[in-house]
Amino acid sequence: MRIDVLTLFPELFERFATTSIVGRAVSAGLVEIVLTNFRDFTHDPHRSVDDRPFGGGPGMVMMCGPVFESVRHVEKETRSESTRILLTPQGERFDQRMAVELAGRSHLLLICGHYEGFDERIRLGLRPREISVGDYVLSGGEPAAMVLIDALVRLLPGALGDPNSALDESFPGGLLEYPQYTRPREFEGMSVPEILLSGDHAKMEAWRREQALKRTHERRPDLLDL
Ligand code: ADE
Repeated sequence: MRIDVLTLFPELFERFATTSIVGRAVSAGLVEIVLTNFRDFTHDPHRSVDDRPFGGGPGMVMMCGPVFESVRHVEKETRSESTRILLTPQGERFDQRMAVELAGRSHLLLICGHYEGFDERIRLGLRPREISVGDYVLSGGEPAAMVLIDALVRLLPGALGDPNSALDESFPGGLLEYPQYTRPREFEGMSVPEILLSGDHAKMEAWRREQALKRTHERRPDLLDL
């Protein structure tokens, strides 16, 4: 899978793309993350990427030119029509179902904005899918792009050490994850539930399932409403 990230701040992704599970997936060749700076597609001495909105109002708006040019540059170079994604709080809400869907694509192109927003013609002309990572406003699309990349890279076959890890976690089975424990058996008066030390796999499975249901019922009953 190839993921192109179009941003004014490629340096934000450098550590991200070389660390932990995403870093390992990149090293293993499961995903290629390519960073492109909108500023490299400007033609004025100030290398402008934003300007004041027509009609007035606060803040600055991302201009069409550098965004269109960088998208076309990437798609020409890769000779592929990518899945274009614009990160914006106005978008469709990102969730695990969408992560699974996007993890099946071969080429994603993520457009990260800054300032007050995008010139509307970026939406009209490039027709990106618009995705939000939640009902709050970030200063830019970069943290949202990292959320997306992280959630889908861990779904790529081979990205996790144990392929069952992705299945066991919160959401894939529609439930929150059951409580987990590791050594030591006792810590500050709190002990590991006896059942997890019993070695009875069927009983442990049943306990975990029951705990996952209980936790989901308590914390996210909306996930159980079908
Ligand atoms: N850019 C700013 N806020 C955002 C959000 N909540 N989701 C995606 N992109 C954003």
